[in-house]
Amino acid sequence: MARAAASKRIEQLRQEIRHHDHLYYVLDKPVLSDQAYDKLYRELVDLEKEHPDLITPDSPTQRVGGEPLKAFKTVTHKVPLMSLEKANNEEELLAFDKRVREALNNKDFDYFLEMKYDGLAISLKYENGILTQGATRGDGIHGEDVTTNIRTIKTIPLRLLKEVNIEVRGEVVLLNDDFIKLNEQRADNDEPLFANPRNAAAGSVRQLDPKISSDRPLMFFPYYGSPQKGIQTEDKMREYLSELGFKLNPLWKYSSIEEVIKAVHNLEDKRGKLDYEIDGVVVKVNDFVSQNKMGATARAPRWAIAFKYSPMQAESVIEDIQVQVGRTGAITPVAHLQPVHLAGVIVKRATLHNEDEIRRKEIRIKDHVKVQRAGEVIPEVVEVIKSKRTGHEKEFVMPQKCPVCGAEIFKPEGEAIARCTNATCPAQVMGRVRLFTSREAMDIEHVGWALIDQLVDRKLIHDAADLYTLEKADIMKLERMADKSAQNVINSIKASLDRPLERLIYALGIRLIGRRTAQLLADHYHDIDSLAGAQEDELSKIHEIGPKVAASIVTFFKQKGNRELIAKLKRAGVRVKGQGSRVIGPLSGKTFVFTGGLANYTRTSAEELVRKLGGSASGSVSKQTDYVVAGTDPGSKYEKARKLGVTILTEKEFEQLVGKGG
Ligand code: IVH
Repeated sequence: MARAAASKRIEQLRQEIRHHDHLYYVLDKPVLSDQAYDKLYRELVDLEKEHPDLITPDSPTQRVGGEPLKAFKTVTHKVPLMSLEKANNEEELLAFDKRVREALNNKDFDYFLEMKYDGLAISLKYENGILTQGATRGDGIHGEDVTTNIRTIKTIPLRLLKEVNIEVRGEVVLLNDDFIKLNEQRADNDEPLFANPRNAAAGSVRQLDPKISSDRPLMFFPYYGSPQKGIQTEDKMREYLSELGFKLNPLWKYSSIEEVIKAVHNLEDKRGKLDYEIDGVVVKVNDFVSQNKMGATARAPRWAIAFKYSPMQAESVIEDIQVQVGRTGAITPVAHLQPVHLAGVIVKRATLHNEDEIRRKEIRIKDHVKVQRAGEVIPEVVEVIKSKRTGHEKEFVMPQKCPVCGAEIFKPEGEAIARCTNATCPAQVMGRVRLFTSREAMDIEHVGWALIDQLVDRKLIHDAADLYTLEKADIMKLERMADKSAQNVINSIKASLDRPLERLIYALGIRLIGRRTAQLLADHYHDIDSLAGAQEDELSKIHEIGPKVAASIVTFFKQKGNRELIAKLKRAGVRVKGQGSRVIGPLSGKTFVFTGGLANYTRTSAEELVRKLGGSASGSVSKQTDYVVAGTDPGSKYEKARKLGVTILTEKEFEQLVGKGG
């Protein structure tokens, strides 16, 4: 390309890439697929290679990634977190091998292989075996201090099994199953859905409220440890990390690139069966002496390369489109496909999300389509292959009546989701009972989905309360139910009678009420009746409960069916009262938020003190907050408190208020 034209195009590409970097790294809301982004990036790299004099220090090729969000403290990585060179095919792996062998003068060496996890890169610092800091990668040099958030991740040891100083780097990921659950919860709560597990993991870690990240089951997989005496290779380092208490995944070691290539393809076949998402394999020279000899470019080490897998796509035919009915009556159209292999699993169904999506993608029954699992755990139809249309394709018409119970389907103006209007619809009943019995709700261990489906189908139960009047003889009539298993079912139902009030509130499946809100409500009301009798304005006065949530609660308890359900639960002996009445004390009615480091308390101990004195503590500042107690480096909550005119106390003033130290 001529210089003038190249210069123009380069500037265009840079602007576009910067925009997408911002969406991806800073806002966690990418709009471009990885391939589309890579294409832009490669075009820029190639043009800059052609015209090196046009390279400027602010080109996206000259740095590693986005900028940190404002609200977290910035952490400077002394050893930058680098990127990886990419190989898209075997030739590029062979070229890498050639470079390595040349640099090492054909000396013997091994390759070390591990999976390229698709999550959020995190650096952890341990001093004398104690976790002192967790930070995101950020732009590679400046990351965000997310220590409080990552401390909630169970696979990150707070104390190592040896008292050593070490920096460990790795990836925070969300397991596929947990991702599906999280999105289901968000759908119920009318919150925007995460596009894939990576975004969900990144969004969770970079939540300013660590309570929310602690609600999400994140995992940490390490792939780097800072130099340690006596450890000379990657595989020994992983072994050491595992001895320190980290969770490791399968790893491989090979002596030739041919074996590496074989293993890379092998893993690609198994990729769909993993519990988490990977977007490739990382191939590293195993020993550190050779690594040091090869060194790094400004961007990436020369001794490693990432083999990128293409998105998991396949072609299939839509044989039919049917709708599924969820717990809230939500109607989801699902494509039934000609079974097709997709990265190790056989896919027969793909979600079509909703009617608008079907229109937008112009999907018809009998269409040839591309199906994809790229980050999304549930396969989706990406596009129609229009060139394969025969003219016999049929448009899909949303049913007017629920396919399960025959009731009217209603779609409110301006909403994407249509719903079945019959609360006693068996599909809705099954969904509600599933929620009721789930581990997070009433935790009824031996009542699984298959059993619930049978119970509803045979009309042995019509709602969750009916579980409590089931008899062993009823259950023994069902499939695969012998005396002992039926007894287990009865016992586990009985054991749930005494669950805490917050679990019951959550188990009712009130729209917009997640576990955290259920806890707040249980803390505030003594029993289910006072909650059922609460008015909207009263509910809205509770800190963290907005008008939408308040309205949803009132609507729920207004419905006759729901009131009858509560009465039935009571008659069955389900505990509907809280553990104890609220504490009345000097701080009654006052809400506190703590921010920044305190000298004499941990955040939890300060919150406990407030509760002991009758007050309540919350994670976020709003107009309902009475006091914000600001310690060292207070951050965004402090700003918000100032804006809203909330009283801000120092730690000393707080102690005076609670009658200590003053
Ligand atoms: S090694 C100096 N190993 O990929 C080598 N990175 O494209 C730096 N990643 O930011 C990284 N799995 O977050 C390495 N097994 C693995 C990895 C891995 C995922 C991520 C990492 C890094 C990005 C680079």
